[in-house]
Amino acid sequence: MLYNTLGGSDLQVSALSLGVWQLGDPGFWGEEACSSPADLVAAAIDHGITLFDTAELYGNGSSEELLGAALKGRRDEVLLASKVSTQHCTAEGIRSACENSLSRLQTDRIDLYQIHWPFPPADYAAVQETLEALRQEGKIREIGVSNFGRRDLQGWMAEGTAVSNQIGYNMLFRAPEYEMIPACRKHNLGVLAYMPLMQGLLTGRFKSTEEIPFQRRRTRHFSCTREGTRHGQVGHERLLWDTLEDLSDFADAIGVPLSVLSLCWLMRQPGVSSVIIGSRKVDQLLFNLQAAQLDIGPAATAQLNEATYPLKVALGRNCDMWESDDNRRIN
Ligand SMILES: NC(=O)c1ccc[n+]([C@@H]2O[C@H](COP(=O)([O-])OP(=O)(O)OC[C@H]3O[C@@H](n4cnc5c(N)ncnc54)[C@H](OP(=O)(O)O)[C@@H]3O)[C@@H](O)[C@H]2O)c1
Repeated sequence: MLYNTLGGSDLQVSALSLGVWQLGDPGFWGEEACSSPADLVAAAIDHGITLFDTAELYGNGSSEELLGAALKGRRDEVLLASKVSTQHCTAEGIRSACENSLSRLQTDRIDLYQIHWPFPPADYAAVQETLEALRQEGKIREIGVSNFGRRDLQGWMAEGTAVSNQIGYNMLFRAPEYEMIPACRKHNLGVLAYMPLMQGLLTGRFKSTEEIPFQRRRTRHFSCTREGTRHGQVGHERLLWDTLEDLSDFADAIGVPLSVLSLCWLMRQPGVSSVIIGSRKVDQLLFNLQAAQLDIGPAATAQLNEATYPLKVALGRNCDMWESDDNRRIN
């Protein structure tokens, strides 16, 4: 496992980290049998993962609770990242949200406390003051943001600090490369990449749009006729499946599973400090962790860039995977 320094902080994070939205949120992920949180967390730590990502939003606090319990006795071996929801981004709201997260996580400190989504800039100064106070009190170690675009970052960094930006980024969604990642690098923020496998699509397990659970096919890749979409656009389904076919062929040709190839590509993109893998099964996690041992090299990376370029162009610069340009929440 590689370890990277997170932005301007002194946190050393594993290049692959574990996202635990999958714990305690069957409403989104489904009721399928999964490993116990304790087994999952132990397997991750034993294979070199040091960063665990959750949020107060996931399963309405259940994800934090299950992670806190699963880390009993091993808390000091890891870095804990959690997120505050937008509706709690006020001076008073953020303090109680943080204290509730600490209690659910059964810890006295959150190593990286992130703003989950951008919120009105008029509240930035008050929120930053409270975050700084929480830091002085030792309740949080570092401040991070999530889903902040170039302009969002410009506003936020003018008033305060952050060491990381957590963003949706994978081979099928490269919009952050235009402006968001260069802005992170400019402000010395580490990138934490979420949805690295496009919620399963980049494993090759789904063979048609109909096979994908509806919660996972609401992004701008899919037609607005699909249940749950909000973007109102025609989508790019044909191009998406053509791209996936090319990627699968390439993975087969070099003998690397598509999920592992996808993680390898992402881990080595400029600015990326850690790739957050979501998994609720030990076997699946260990399979994906093959990426920690593999360097696909510049030639394969260039070929993957080329194969995914038409989709990158079609989806454009809007970094909001779910909303149209007019309604985007990331600016
Ligand atoms: N900041 C944000 O706004 C934000 C948004 C989304 C996610 N996140 C964070 O990022 C983490 C990861 O993102 P994500 O979970 O949405 O997406 P992801 O990591 O792209 O996809 C995870 C899902 O892909 C499937 N999968 C993984 N490996 C597989 C394999 N080898 N074979 C077949 N299927 C496989 C599993 O589905 P099954 O469980 O159905 O098998 C798994 O739950 C989350 O846990 C969360 O911590 C943050």
